[in-house]
Amino acid sequence: MASLDRFRVVGGARLHGEVGVTGAKNSVLKLMAASLLASGTTTITNVPEIADVEIMSDLLTRLGCTVVHNGSTVTIDVPAQPGHRADYDLVRKMRASINVLGPLVARIGQAEVALPGGDAIGSRGLDFHIKGLETLGAKAHIEHGYVIAEAPHGLVGAAIELDFPSVGATENIMTAAVLATGVTTIDNAAREPDLVDLGEFLISMGANIQGLGTPLITITGVAQLNPTTHATIPDRIITGTWAFAAAMTLGDITIHGARAKDLELPLEKLASAGAIITTTADGIRVRMDSRPQAIDVSTLPYPGFPTDLLPMVIALNSIADGHSLVTENVFESRFMFVNELSRLGAQISVDGHHASIDGVAELSGAPVEATDIRAGAGLILAALVSDGETTIDQAFHVDRGYPNFAEQLCSLGAKVSRE
Ligand code: UD1
Repeated sequence: MASLDRFRVVGGARLHGEVGVTGAKNSVLKLMAASLLASGTTTITNVPEIADVEIMSDLLTRLGCTVVHNGSTVTIDVPAQPGHRADYDLVRKMRASINVLGPLVARIGQAEVALPGGDAIGSRGLDFHIKGLETLGAKAHIEHGYVIAEAPHGLVGAAIELDFPSVGATENIMTAAVLATGVTTIDNAAREPDLVDLGEFLISMGANIQGLGTPLITITGVAQLNPTTHATIPDRIITGTWAFAAAMTLGDITIHGARAKDLELPLEKLASAGAIITTTADGIRVRMDSRPQAIDVSTLPYPGFPTDLLPMVIALNSIADGHSLVTENVFESRFMFVNELSRLGAQISVDGHHASIDGVAELSGAPVEATDIRAGAGLILAALVSDGETTIDQAFHVDRGYPNFAEQLCSLGAKVSRE
């Protein structure tokens, strides 16, 4: 899926002004997949215009749904008998395709979903997803690159304990258990705001779920779910990206629609770097008046520091005053992007899952390449504080997560173009 599109950034601007936050990518894709649980028309609002939403629409269309986009609203008309196969050509483009697994097994008793494989941030297993569905009574195996799961006589509630609070596994188990017979408990469940949003979406469809946002989720199965209308929560990673952009460029950005409560730890860290953060009527304002102080960060499942903001914190530390240690605990290959950042003059050494960073006064523009969505955004932030011009290749990665990023940056005073 390579493309020749690139961002061109001339560094030096202090970002100043107002931006709005769109709906969360990591939530909306899961909501769309979960719409399969009820026949009829489900409406999702606050949908971001990003490439991944198009891919999920294609996948649902192939499963027999009619998907209509109207601005930031998407309606999904789900047939009485949807298809059961998610093909490799779509799954490989977007890992969230795996989220159709739970709904299909629960609703029609069978699913064949291509294995997504690894990606540039590390291997991403499916063992918890499969084991979870098996515990609910499905028969699952892997054949010819597909997960094949069957439960012709329906699923039965059970107690499940996850070895790691995997977001994807919690989602697939929860979206299967809502239609199982009896009670399911998920212990060591993920607590991410996106997962809570999915749970609330399911509740609005008629599901019985307790404990969202805690490590123990209890689901009492119901016989049938109904289509619903639901607004996607604001994107906390985009919010965080703007907050880091303000801090790094000594800027002042008001982020409308941001939910500070979803970002407590990143905002605390930014405050300790010297940022002045205030909540506004409908969001937050982040201002920075002097060079950031280096901050030590370890990524962890929510409410820990999000792995998706790792490139931003490394970019900030690379121009901060002082030395910092950044530890990645979720994905083993996320540091790949450090090689690109080093091309801009960042002083970083990586040892296993630790990055040790010596802040430099200024980075220096150079051609670099985005390796994934968040790495791309982190490189753009670094380019904003680099002397001269930086080009960031493989711009399509950034389009997967940030609607109109270049336009929004320009509206804040940055010199960014797309070519
Ligand atoms: C992850 C992030 C999520 C982020 C999303 C998009 C965490 C905990 N999860 O969710 O915040 O928004 O990427 O970038 O931060 N694993 C297994 N077996 C499984 C499932 C997972 O070994 O069956 C491992 C993965 O290899 C990985 C870790 O668990 O090391 C986290 O996986 P998981 O939370 O499932 O990933 P995503 O759902 O993609």
